[in-house]
Amino acid sequence: MHKDCERVLISEEELKIMVKNIAAQISEDYKGKNLLLVGLLKGSVVFMADLMKELEVDCKIDFICVSSYGSSTESNGRVNLIKDVSQPVEGMDVLIVEDIIDSGNTLSFILKYFEAKGVNSVKICTLLSKPERRVVEIPVDYVGAEIPDEFVIGYGLDYAENYRNLPYVGILKRSVYS
Ligand code: IMP
Ligand code: MG
Repeated sequence: MHKDCERVLISEEELKIMVKNIAAQISEDYKGKNLLLVGLLKGSVVFMADLMKELEVDCKIDFICVSSYGSSTESNGRVNLIKDVSQPVEGMDVLIVEDIIDSGNTLSFILKYFEAKGVNSVKICTLLSKPERRVVEIPVDYVGAEIPDEFVIGYGLDYAENYRNLPYVGILKRSVYS
C-alpha cells in the first residue's frame, strides 16, 4: 500500500467485480441503442478503459474536460468546460462516465449541457458516490459503490494530480492535505 494511504477502501479484486456488474447492466440496457461513452478527464480514464472492455454492446467513446474552482478537496459549484467532445452527439445515447460524485455540481452542469445538444438520452455512470455530500440532487443511473465522506485516491482518482495510478481505491491520510 502507498505510504500516503490510510487504508484500502476498495481492492483491485473488488473493483474488477464492480466494473463487470456495471458493464452487464449497461450491456442489457443499451441493446440496439447508439451508445456514446463520454468520460470526464482525467479521473474517469482508468474506470472507463476497464468498463468499455467488458461491454457486450457496440459503443463509441469520447472525452470532455471541465474545471471546477475551489480548494483541491472541494469544489464550489462553478464549472467551466475546457475540452468538448470531438464528434456530433445529436441522436446519441450518451452515457457520462465519472470517477466520483461529491456535491453533484459537476454532473449537474454536464447533464444540462448534453440535454441542450439534442441527444436521444443522457445517463450517468459513476464508479463512486458520496451521497452525504450532495448539494445538487442528480439522477445516478449506474454506481459502483456508495462511500462515506472520506477523501479517496487511486484507480484514476487524484489528490493534486497524484496517485491516479494506484490499482485500488484508498483513503488519503489527512496529514497529506490538512
Ligand atoms: P462534484 O462536482 O463536487 O460532484 O465533484 C466531483 C469531482 O470532484 C470529481 O470528478 C473528482 O474529480 C473530485 N472529487 C470529489 N471527491 C473526491 C475524492 O474523494 N477523491 C478525489 N477526487 C474527488
Ligand atoms: Mg479530480
